[in-house]
Amino acid sequence: MAEIVLSGVSKRWGSFVGVDKFDLTIPDREFLVLLGPSGCGKTTTMRMIAGLEDPTEGDILIDGKVVNNLEPKDRDVAMVFQSYALYPNMNVYENIRFPLKVRGADPATHKDKVMRASAMVELDDFLDRKPAELSGGQRQRVALARAIVREPNVFLMDEPLSNLDAKLRVSTRAQIKNLSHELAVTTIYVTHDQIEAMTLADRVVVMEKGVVQQVGSPTEIYNYPANTFVAGFIGNPAMNLLDGMISGGVFTAAKTEITGLQAPDGPVTLGFRAEDAEVTDQGGQITAPIYTLELLGDATMVSVRIGGVLVSAKADKSFRAEIDDMVSIRIPHDHCHLFDATTGLRIGDKPG
Ligand SMILES: Nc1ncnc2c1ncn2[C@@H]1O[C@H](COP(=O)(O)OP(=O)(O)OP(=O)(O)O)[C@@H](O)[C@H]1O
Ligand SMILES: [Mg+2]
Repeated sequence: MAEIVLSGVSKRWGSFVGVDKFDLTIPDREFLVLLGPSGCGKTTTMRMIAGLEDPTEGDILIDGKVVNNLEPKDRDVAMVFQSYALYPNMNVYENIRFPLKVRGADPATHKDKVMRASAMVELDDFLDRKPAELSGGQRQRVALARAIVREPNVFLMDEPLSNLDAKLRVSTRAQIKNLSHELAVTTIYVTHDQIEAMTLADRVVVMEKGVVQQVGSPTEIYNYPANTFVAGFIGNPAMNLLDGMISGGVFTAAKTEITGLQAPDGPVTLGFRAEDAEVTDQGGQITAPIYTLELLGDATMVSVRIGGVLVSAKADKSFRAEIDDMVSIRIPHDHCHLFDATTGLRIGDKPG
């Protein structure tokens, strides 16, 4: 078992801040996902936990013990890298067995352990092959098995699916989710793919420019984004964000008027999700000509332009109209999110 605590952990190179005061307790067996755009500090955070990078400030604790000065090999942490770094001259069996040899595990146990790990990732039939004779997805699974075989206390996975095609990503993602359930090991998983984050995580940490923006369950992050960055990052499409003014509970922006909102007077950013809005002929709060229409199969995405910003609403799949036709978009109050125009922070706990 392993609980991980990051206490005021920062990483700086000169004046550049890679990770800024990361504070988090990751309970035993949690599947935690670090999510954020390229360069936000995900890999750096992971490398500090693994011991491959020293924090400039702060402490990292595993099961209550500060591990800052422990070598990576003494941390009982297994890391799966983005580039799976297999040994090209060794076959799959030897690749998976390698950590057992390095760590001096009793040779009599090697075979059982390798067989068990390879079975978990469905590689039993490929044990004699060299990495060059495997597909990308199979190589990825060798890297996973090599981490599993160590039976570590902590799994660190840095974009382990990034080299796979879309279809394989989905199936390997399912496999990782199942594995984490079966192994019940604390797992920290890095991705910049929010679908991956939402489907795998117990909790998600959204990062931007080295700073944690929000920590929460996928539902919390999706339903109650803490600020405009999270709102604009999570969801496909991301939340619509419209700058406007609140006065007496009425939000106004170009072509937009929404009454009955609860926020102090002043400039705000209104957020709402495309799927929470309704497209009608009239009577909505946003009325504008259609800018574009996209057929998604299960729905039709209708977009209008409001003061230079594209705003989308999901209509029924049978919805038919032409570009430039007028539409009206209705957003129920309890799906209106308000954010401070200056700080970007959510106003109020709940939408509406
Ligand atoms: N050794 C280093 N020296 C200076 N800056 C570094 C060093 N390593 C990383 N950085 C910078 O720190 C920031 C965070 O890098 P990191 O690799 O953690 O990003 P990331 O979130 O993993 O991004 P990606 O999704 O692209 O992998 C980046 O701006 C990067 O350029
Ligand atoms: Mg990275």
